[in-house]
Amino acid sequence: MCGIVGYAGRQSAAPIIVDGLRRLEYRGYDSAGVAIHDGRGIETVRALGKLRALGDALAKRPLEGALGIGHTRWATHGRPSEENAHPHVAGKVALVHNGIIENHAALRRELAADGARFGSETDTEILAHLVDRALSRGAVNLFDAVRVALSEVTGAYAIAVLSVDEPNTIVAARHGSPLVLGYGENEMLCGSDISALLSHTRDMVFLEDGDVVELRGPTSSEGPSARITTIAGAAVERPRKRIDWSPTMAERGGFKHFMLKEIHEQPDAIAATLRGRIDLENGDVHGSEIGLSPEVVRGIRRVYIVACGTSFHASLLGRYWIESLAGVQTVVELGSELANRKAVFCDDDLVIAVSQSGETFDTLAAAKAAKSRGARVLAIANVLDSAIPRLAHGELYTRAGPEIGVASTKCFTAQLTALLLVAVYLGRQRGALDATQGASLLEGLCAVPGFINELLGDADYVRSIATSLVDATDVLFLGRGLNYPIALEGALKLKEISYAHAEGYAAGEMKHGPIALIDSSLPVVVVAPRDASYDKALGNVQEVRAREGRVIALATKGDEAMHDLAEHIVWLPDAPEHVLPLLTVVPLQLLAYYVASRKGHDVDQPRNLAKTVTVE
Ligand code: G6P
Repeated sequence: MCGIVGYAGRQSAAPIIVDGLRRLEYRGYDSAGVAIHDGRGIETVRALGKLRALGDALAKRPLEGALGIGHTRWATHGRPSEENAHPHVAGKVALVHNGIIENHAALRRELAADGARFGSETDTEILAHLVDRALSRGAVNLFDAVRVALSEVTGAYAIAVLSVDEPNTIVAARHGSPLVLGYGENEMLCGSDISALLSHTRDMVFLEDGDVVELRGPTSSEGPSARITTIAGAAVERPRKRIDWSPTMAERGGFKHFMLKEIHEQPDAIAATLRGRIDLENGDVHGSEIGLSPEVVRGIRRVYIVACGTSFHASLLGRYWIESLAGVQTVVELGSELANRKAVFCDDDLVIAVSQSGETFDTLAAAKAAKSRGARVLAIANVLDSAIPRLAHGELYTRAGPEIGVASTKCFTAQLTALLLVAVYLGRQRGALDATQGASLLEGLCAVPGFINELLGDADYVRSIATSLVDATDVLFLGRGLNYPIALEGALKLKEISYAHAEGYAAGEMKHGPIALIDSSLPVVVVAPRDASYDKALGNVQEVRAREGRVIALATKGDEAMHDLAEHIVWLPDAPEHVLPLLTVVPLQLLAYYVASRKGHDVDQPRNLAKTVTVE
């Protein structure tokens, strides 16, 4: 959670930092702030609420200077307020932080005993005081002082720090929270992710845990520079990488919201995730990135998928595919639940950690635990070089491009694509699928972008259905088999952004509880394409109708029986069964979007949520 940006160059820093924060706002948006060094001293401006409020505050009190740091916050310690917003200032130091300082309470007592006074309830302010204390106790410079301070804290952090005495320096560090350096033209930047820096440079360095960096802006005699060391001060080299995301990928491109744009980008995201990975001739998947040799694949006794949120729903589908196509027992677990028991992993387990951000705390913790207990870990992530793929033995990146809307859409279908690739790969190496079967499954997958484009052509019809749901306070989503995780995901999308109570249920479980809720006021969304579970799904629809429930169905074109039962039907193309989840989710994403948009909600930044959840 929380986003950080730092700038050291020749231009006015504040607008550049605010622009970077705008692209990080998905990480947190309850308050924001900047600190700018104007050559004489440091000035800060902070504001409660969305970044807009910071923009207004800066319009009233512009800050001049070519060096600065900024932050957008998702509150953990201390409620959202201007006092708790970053940057935090202590003596000569201003500091922004993403993460959690675990020993903050003990340090606060110790600093208070030393005479420190605090202006906030945050753990971050403690760190600012520690840096200032190190300076006053004789650290030779800010770089030195930050390293001393970091050696006193435990927890997770990415930080950026300024000192009054050093008008040309930002010191930044990471441990457990991401931080990227950008090498611009006559300027250095740092930020929580690539998108914050893209409009300035595509040349980046991904810091590793334990790295501390001194960024220096250009002077009349020297260009900008970055020096990276460990906390103990040993020099380290990190490779520079050229990023192939373009700045416009993180723009709305004419759509009203990022979420709507990202729903429409799904055909491209899926095509990109497939590109270069399919061998149609042999009905196989090029597996080198996956990092599992055919021998290792043949020795796998169990697949264990861990994930949270939308990625968990993708994982439930992954289980279905891996079991049916590769014949390997597969378990799916929420990262947060795994932390609550001593799960048993073996060295012939394959653990797949699925996470669009590659940073989610609970998924990362689960992947670490599995690795330490001997399992092989495969990451499916969207963000290059993020924590989970770094830790994994192999990685398969989804290539969805930056996803800004907090409610995940294109990353979900890209994850499904990656999981299907893994299932086919495992199936082929283990001999559960022959080349013809592999080729047919992969051809079906290659046809998905075209099918989704067809569905997107009906977006206006979905919008008209959404009108009938605007006043609904409860909505039930039902599905069986491959449609069950989609029912869960449809309900999650609706609740995340429309704030209606929405519940996804296995259709077969309806008679064990939810049927008691059904009356003429309850909209029931049924995911019922013509597949192996279709007849039973139709039976459920009849049960709902018999109790006067309002049915909104997703059904395959030409389904006359459904036509007679449902109040509204979104027609689906007649696609191969194994790819149906990549299609059925699309109208449900649109439905959630249009309901929330009709309600006037902030669709891209729904209340209380954050896109990247780096806390437990
Ligand atoms: C948050 C986001 C969700 C996401 C979940 C897991 O709750 O709002 O959209 O599905 O985290 O995130 P991950 O990055 O691990 O996929």
